[in-house]
Amino acid sequence: MIGIGSDHGGFSLKQTVIQHLKEKGYEVKDYGCYSEESCDYPIYAKAVAQGIKNGEITGGILICGTGIGISIAANKIPGIRAASCTDTFSARAAKEHNHANILALGERVIGKGLALDIVDTFLEAEFSNDGRHIRRIEMIENES
Ligand code: RB5
Repeated sequence: MIGIGSDHGGFSLKQTVIQHLKEKGYEVKDYGCYSEESCDYPIYAKAVAQGIKNGEITGGILICGTGIGISIAANKIPGIRAASCTDTFSARAAKEHNHANILALGERVIGKGLALDIVDTFLEAEFSNDGRHIRRIEMIENES
């Protein structure tokens, strides 16, 4: 199950990503927001992050205007590794090297076609399980 959340700045792209993922056969849990009315991105970052932590979802997608605020908010939560990506190379590396469990996107930064390619790349990539990457992630978790 993939979790997805956005603020108003990412609402339209969120709806597009949900439809795309459902068409590809993914199960999707929508954590809001549910309209373009102005709202606060930390609420949705926290909801998706908690969904990962309690095992409700295996990974998440967060969208705001830039992808920045919502990824900063998600990364405050221990165990969450949110990567804001604007290209497929970074999206693949975020999963393979950084074991990112959330992909963040900026609706006002990239077009929908690129956004969907980035989503597909991120979801299809796998963590490399290489010792050096594991060590670095552990260093982040231990804040050293
Ligand atoms: C909302 O206007 C906008 O600030 C937000 O979506 C996001 O871009 C913040 O980082």
